[in-house]
Amino acid sequence: MNFRDVSKVHFGGDDVSLYGTPKEELGPGQLCVGGSGAQPGGAEPKPSFLKNQLQALFQPTDNKLAMKLFGSKKALMKERIRQKAAGHWIIHPCSNFRFYWDLCMLFLLVANLIILPVAISFFNDDLSTRWIAFNCLSDTIFLIDIVVNFRTGIMQQDNSEQVILDPKLIAKHYLKTWFFLDLISSVPLDYIFLIFNQYRDKEDFSESFQILHAGRALRILRLAKLLSLVRLLRLSRLVRYVSQWEEVYVSSFLNMASVFMRIFNLISMMLLIGHWSGCLQFLVPMLQGFPSNSWVAINELQKSHWLEQYSWAFFKAMSHMLCIGYGRFPPQNLTDLWLTMISMISGATCYALFIGHATNLIQSLDSSRRQYRERLKQVEEYMAYRKLPRELRTRITEYFEHRYQGKFFDEEMILGELSEKLREDVINYNCRSLVASVPFFANADPGFVSEVVTKLKYEVFLPGDIIIKEGTIGNKMFFIQEGIVDIVMSNGEVATSLSDGSYFGEICLLTNARRTASVRAETYCNLFSLSVEHFNTVLDSYPLMRRTMESVAAERLNKIGKNPSIVSNREDLTNDCKTVNAIVNALASVAATEQCDGGTSSEESMMTHDAHGHKSRHHHHHNLLDLGSIGKALAKGHLPRPKSENNFALSLDQPSPLNRNRPSFHKSDTFHKDTSFQ
Ligand code: CMP
Repeated sequence: MNFRDVSKVHFGGDDVSLYGTPKEELGPGQLCVGGSGAQPGGAEPKPSFLKNQLQALFQPTDNKLAMKLFGSKKALMKERIRQKAAGHWIIHPCSNFRFYWDLCMLFLLVANLIILPVAISFFNDDLSTRWIAFNCLSDTIFLIDIVVNFRTGIMQQDNSEQVILDPKLIAKHYLKTWFFLDLISSVPLDYIFLIFNQYRDKEDFSESFQILHAGRALRILRLAKLLSLVRLLRLSRLVRYVSQWEEVYVSSFLNMASVFMRIFNLISMMLLIGHWSGCLQFLVPMLQGFPSNSWVAINELQKSHWLEQYSWAFFKAMSHMLCIGYGRFPPQNLTDLWLTMISMISGATCYALFIGHATNLIQSLDSSRRQYRERLKQVEEYMAYRKLPRELRTRITEYFEHRYQGKFFDEEMILGELSEKLREDVINYNCRSLVASVPFFANADPGFVSEVVTKLKYEVFLPGDIIIKEGTIGNKMFFIQEGIVDIVMSNGEVATSLSDGSYFGEICLLTNARRTASVRAETYCNLFSLSVEHFNTVLDSYPLMRRTMESVAAERLNKIGKNPSIVSNREDLTNDCKTVNAIVNALASVAATEQCDGGTSSEESMMTHDAHGHKSRHHHHHNLLDLGSIGKALAKGHLPRPKSENNFALSLDQPSPLNRNRPSFHKSDTFHKDTSFQ
């Protein structure tokens, strides 16, 4: 088959399919039916517009089913060409035609499965024109459905790419599977039976048999009624269509919607079975001619309106189904007894299945919360088993609550299942608030930020927890996402406090020495830690960032009266230190001035101790002028800027709404004016 001859894929300007993508279009004289290929030169007559449109309807379009099956539009185009080659008016299972046909069949099936049992059980005029018309119409459509099924390609469960499009194979497959069930449920057996009987009656009709004939006619009608019940086998089609739709459309919905959809389907199925059972409860006594001890006679419903009869019958069926009772009265005769038993067994089984399914679905809806509860329960049991003291238990529970916030995820496992790029994107997104709040990141190279954040580990500390102990060997540093920590010196004095956006624990990693101070959590602290290995790897690739960190560390050491040269012995460290100091002092004076002025805006948060030693978080607003002068000081100094120095200075010189929210210095470098470390 030469595809080049068969068709050309061509995107027309405004030729947009139902789902918003370009439709494949054939060039003039290129339509091929029956796989013969088009003859260039216009040997074949031009296909009619209607035929063209109809064949386009039979082609796969980029609906959800097709996208799920073929994955890409390119593959879809290939499939269209393949389908065209198959020809013979084959309908593709992913075509618009099949979609709308299935939709219509779904409505018709539901209508049939609800109306049929009611009409058979509660209406006696089986031969009324309306009823015959309804039956004939629906039977005809269901017969057409069989024909359509013979012309619809078959999707193979395991091999999605290979939709069977060969008519012979389709027919073979359909004949082997659902054909007979579909045929039996579509053929009007009752009417065939009645016509056949009428014909026989005419032949051997004689006056002497008239009375006998009347009785026989009634029996025949009842038999026809029973035969019409065969139509209920259409349920198999409903189950098939619904499960196919569920698979394609519901599974790709959001979790919530899909769960509710499935529960809705389950409830509908249960109600349908209750409905059928109710109709059966009435049909059997009706066929028996309402014996005096049947439930219909006991309830005196023989002559009531059909709605009243149906309501009692449905009530009875639902009572059996939900194992609540027998309806109004328990069964009095053997037929009722058996009917009740059948309805109880089938109903209760369905109900049990429904409960099981619904519980499963609801449980899967909030699995993270369930897992959290399970974990917490285990922790509680463990604490009881180990007989931990009450105070420790409270702290553990508090930690658990604060760390997981009611939901438990195996984040490592989830992220491990993603591709590297996706994992990085997710981590970057998760850390966006940290990156925004840490000035060290906010002004840094995006590559550096991305490398650091992908290596961060989330940790939570409770108030009073010692995060770092002075004199120990450190193996990680921390970034504060939220919370306040105290830097405690060896004499027990609090040197300073750091809050959201600051970092600490870096000196030890830079110097390979012991921790220079203790760090204690003052409030609940959400921190991100960076291990020493990752710290070194990242800083080795970004030496400028190391220099910045070293300068800040030296200044910090200076402030707590330790030798700053342990951080680095490079010559320009003193200069860098001076620059940082200048910035810090400028900042502190700005902070102090604004504090006097009563400025309360939210640019930066800084910790101060009041006269009574109480700590409070002050929010200081630095207007653009102040920031500008600090920026200029930095630009003049030798301190390397994490990003482009020029950009930084420029952006500060030219106030823009953007840099209003971007602190240009590190919060951890803000010191209290009244605290002297020397
Ligand atoms: P490290 O020595 O690893 O452990 C204690 C940490 O406290 C230290 O790193 C610094 O990050 C931090 N630190 C020490 N002194 C100060 C200070 N004066 N201001 C802010 N942070 C400090």
